[in-house]
Amino acid sequence: MQPVRSKRGFLIFFLTFGITDLQLMSFKEKISTAKLPSHVAIIMDGNGRWAKKRGMLRTFGHENGVVSVRETAEAAAELGIKHLTLYAFSTENWNRPRREVEALMRLLLKTINRETKTLNKNNIRLLAIGDLQSLNEKTYEHLLKAIDETKSNTRMDLILALSYSSQYEIVEATRQIAARVANNEISIDDINEDMISAHLFTKNIPNPELLIRTSGENRISNFLLWQLAYSELYFTPKLWPDFRKEDFYEAIVDYQHRERRFGRTSEQISEKERK
Ligand code: FPP
Repeated sequence: MQPVRSKRGFLIFFLTFGITDLQLMSFKEKISTAKLPSHVAIIMDGNGRWAKKRGMLRTFGHENGVVSVRETAEAAAELGIKHLTLYAFSTENWNRPRREVEALMRLLLKTINRETKTLNKNNIRLLAIGDLQSLNEKTYEHLLKAIDETKSNTRMDLILALSYSSQYEIVEATRQIAARVANNEISIDDINEDMISAHLFTKNIPNPELLIRTSGENRISNFLLWQLAYSELYFTPKLWPDFRKEDFYEAIVDYQHRERRFGRTSEQISEKERK
């Protein structure tokens, strides 16, 4: 190749080779480790449509969704993200056809049992939020066992939202706080944002800085309504079973370009925070 001498030559060289290289650069290489979200929450959507496109049953989509769960958990842990919450089964999902619900419960059980060893190997702690006792007995027992077996792991929390609804969670928190007032343990004036947070399923987990939803739907669907108050929302048309590490990295890069103002003006955000 001829050496590039003129300014014009350099420009042509850059446009033909430089930009191509930039485009080929993985999103992972564009991630700044200094500005990582500590908690990412994901609404894994599109399994049914993914399966339908292939002329298969919806459960085929859920089974393939597990591959994306594994990939995403691996990507998050490798990056150094501390908490990853996955919306695996909502309270409303109980209204799906019985066979689909049963298949999802079987898949959940199978995945928990199969993956516990890998979670331990990778130092990942399994947690769950939701009305867990409404799960069938076997799934509930195995879930508790997996949670117990991974309880000392410190690299990342993998939090499954199971039989979860945010409104249910807030109602439960309200009931507990009301009971404490009724028992004269606390007064009405003690109730504030921190107290409500401390009565949610997520009490020991920081709020997510980033929410990802797949499949092109732009909704929150009763997921972490309180906790997402200031989260950045990222919607991608990818269906969940197609979601891979690179898609996760892309979401993180997008997040890192957002200016998080928390109600302040742009000018008030210090240079340090921007980095
Ligand atoms: C939403 O897609 C997905 C679910 C209700 C279930 C998510 C479950 C998994 C990915 C597998 C199990 C997960 C773990 C953690 C073991 P949808 O069925 O609503 O898709 P659609 O909108 O295309 O119909």
